[in-house]
Parts: sequence; C-alpha cells; structure tokens
Amino acid sequence: MAMQLDNVVPFGRSFDEYVTMFNLTPTDLGQPILSVADGPASFNAEGTSLGHRIQSVDPLYCYQARDIKQRFDAVVDNIMAQIENTPDDWVWSYHHSPSDLRKNRENAIQKFCQDFGQGKAEGRYDVGELPQLTYPDASYNLGLCSHFLFLYSEQFDRTFHLDSICEMLRICREVRIFPLLTLSLQPSPHLHFVLAALENLGYQWEIQPVAYELQRNGNKMLKITPSVNG
Ligand SMILES: C[S@@+](CC[C@H](N)C(=O)[O-])C[C@H]1O[C@@H](n2cnc3c(N)ncnc32)[C@H](O)[C@@H]1O
Repeated sequence: MAMQLDNVVPFGRSFDEYVTMFNLTPTDLGQPILSVADGPASFNAEGTSLGHRIQSVDPLYCYQARDIKQRFDAVVDNIMAQIENTPDDWVWSYHHSPSDLRKNRENAIQKFCQDFGQGKAEGRYDVGELPQLTYPDASYNLGLCSHFLFLYSEQFDRTFHLDSICEMLRICREVRIFPLLTLSLQPSPHLHFVLAALENLGYQWEIQPVAYELQRNGNKMLKITPSVNG
C-alpha cells in the first residue's frame, strides 16, 4: 500500500537531489532559476552558497523557520513508518535505507532553516502560490517544480495543473517538473490532458529519464519548452 497524506507536508530535498532529479547541467545552473513549491528544500541554501542564483517561492514561507521545522518534526515519524511498512514501493539506490533517507531530509531542513532568515531578507524566499505568481513575463530561463505538481494529483485537479504550468511558462522559458507519479505511486491521471493542452498552446515537451528514483518507477522528469514551430 502506498503512502497516504492528507495535506502537503514540509519534506525538503537537497541541492544534489535537485541536480539529479532535474538533470541540471553546469549551464542550467549558470542561469537564474525559479524554484516553485520549494518548501524546506536546501536547494536555495546550498545553491546560493555555491554562487548560483535561485529564487524560491512557496506558500509555506509565510511561516517562521521554527514553525516549519515543528511541522516537519510532527509528521516525520509517521511518514517514515509508512515508508518502512511499504518496502516494495521504494528504491534504495540514491538514499540507501529509510534511516539514510530520514537523515538526508533532516539535513536538508536544517540547512534550509539556517538559511531562511537571511534568504528571506535577501528576497530569495517569496511567499507565493500556484496557479498565480507575481513575477513578470519571461523573467527566468528555467523554472523547476519538485514534488508538488503531479505528485498531488488527487488533491489538485487537471485544470489547476494546466493553469499552474502555464503560469510557470509565462515566467520561465523552460519548465521542468519531477516526479510524474502521484503519492499512490501511479502515473498522474492529469499528465495526458496537460501534455495535449500544452501542445495546442504551442509548447513541446519531453519526458527524460533521470538517475534519481525513490518512489518505484518515479525516475522521469517532464521538460517543457516553446515549440520550435511555435
Ligand atoms: C512535498 S513539498 C516539496 C518541497 C520541495 N520542492 C522538495 O522537493 O524538496 C511540497 C511543497 O508544495 C508547497 N505548496 C502547496 N501548495 C502550493 C501551491 N498552491 N503553490 C506552490 N506551492 C505549494 C507546500 O507548501 C510544500 O512546501
């Protein structure tokens, strides 16, 4: 049985996980990146310290770091227990075991919390919520969305997905989304509708395999760009 979650939970991934999930090259990392639904990931904290320009946006950022950490602490045992009780659903190639996964999640949120105050003061963490963001048209080359769109297909309908992706494409020339599975480890039921609608709107897409796999079969990333004919 797959993991069941009633609400979006503040689990955050590391910079290295983002690089692997999104096949990020040095060229990708050399441009300003908008990372949507970034939550307590340490992508911004670690990336900024490496000299990259990363803007994170998430509704969670209206809270203090200590509140976000408290929420993490409140749910982490339950989520880890669900993972341990469903061994066939997970692949232990990147994270080597449930305890390694927990350690990596704790490290990520710790780095996020350490950076959040300064990052917020520097404007690197904005409060914002799909399907509408406030950034100007074409203000980023690359937009990323990790573990929100498609993952929460049961909570958000296909119109929300399409509107959210169009909003990211209004702001970013290229958008990448990972994973394409739901929390129940099923291919998102919204994917075909979204891809057909994007084609009609003049975008092209590609589903790329990536080296990151934790949810079994969750090793595919969607990349969307304007169509060369568009
Ligand atoms: C599972 S977390 C993923 C965090 C991070 N992207 C990562 O992969 O480590 C999902 C995030 O989606 C955020 N979220 C929920 N509703 C959202 C919305 N409408 N627009 C943008 N982000 C949203 C939550 O606050 C949460 O931080």
